[in-house]
Amino acid sequence: MTGAEQTKTRPGTNGQDSSMLSAPSPTGPVDPPSTAARSGRRHVLDMDDFSREEILGVFQNADAMTEVLNRDIKKVPTLRGKTVVTLFYEASTRTRVSFEQAGKVLSADVINVSASSSSANKGESLYNTALTLQAMNADIIVIRHGHSGAPHFLARHLDSCVINAGDGTHAHPTQALLDLYTIHNHLGDIDGIKVAIVGDALYSRVARSNLWGLTTMGAQVTLCAPPTLMPVDFLDGRRSEEGHPFASVRVESNVERAIEDADVVMVLRLQLERQHAGHLPTLREYSRMYGINERRLVLAKPGALVMHPGPMNEGVEIDPEVAHGARSVIEEQVSNGVAIRMALLYGMATPARQNAATRGG
Ligand code: NCD
Repeated sequence: MTGAEQTKTRPGTNGQDSSMLSAPSPTGPVDPPSTAARSGRRHVLDMDDFSREEILGVFQNADAMTEVLNRDIKKVPTLRGKTVVTLFYEASTRTRVSFEQAGKVLSADVINVSASSSSANKGESLYNTALTLQAMNADIIVIRHGHSGAPHFLARHLDSCVINAGDGTHAHPTQALLDLYTIHNHLGDIDGIKVAIVGDALYSRVARSNLWGLTTMGAQVTLCAPPTLMPVDFLDGRRSEEGHPFASVRVESNVERAIEDADVVMVLRLQLERQHAGHLPTLREYSRMYGINERRLVLAKPGALVMHPGPMNEGVEIDPEVAHGARSVIEEQVSNGVAIRMALLYGMATPARQNAATRGG
């Protein structure tokens, strides 16, 4: 299949049986989905503990969820009686709304807590806030926090399941899964495809989780950033040490060379709110040297996909014509995010208390 033909493939139509997740009955409970597999996973903290098989399993469940999302009545009773709490200590539009929609389509009770309107504002610790939510029987806590490691901390101390919705500069596993799913829907097997990740790799949790996910799936990844925005592991000789997980990743500071012949160009936001001073002379210079524009995109494969996790600094890391152009799958990433988060919530939906005895997974 050519890149252009592959691009036409509709998301969620990979041939799997999506007849599960039967329509809700107004009168009584409906059988749980029969073809989607429960993952048995308790927490989603990063991509480093996802195998290729598990990722493919998430895709398969996401296909079934996409089918539900395409119905007139987008509601199934699968998580009736479960409580999902989103606990966001950082700004978010798409990630929080997407988790909320995912929970609601599956009939969970979704409670949104934002730090600015919670007792965190009065100095309550993360631990005490989380204990309070657990005491209110939260089955799954979805947390976004400015400190790397905050979700791991909750996972260690709570009985509730924990999903990392972005922690500091560390990880954003659900974004990586939705990115992988979007690529898979267009290009099929990710093994061997060329992905150029371009931008602020140093501060991007999206880049870190995608590096794990893409390399697990066998993609040939090129990481491109100015040297001042490249994580240190990719600058010194560390990756040549035996067993380094990212030994296969190519590092490139020249954007033209990075995107040449790429199947996918994944653009990262300049994380200006996180950056310390001195990384870039000016935004204008960054845009001139690294911005993805039509002229540069010609170097990628015909039909190459353009991705961005959002929110975008249009005119800085990506030109508006590219962001909204024919090759952009940026809006599809957002839609796929709901299906992927439904798939994850579903996979983790076995009662938290029941799992507590086998904690550690
Ligand atoms: C990302 C995040 O918050 O890490 N956005 C998102 O979740 N869609 C990426 C970013 O902010 O650049």
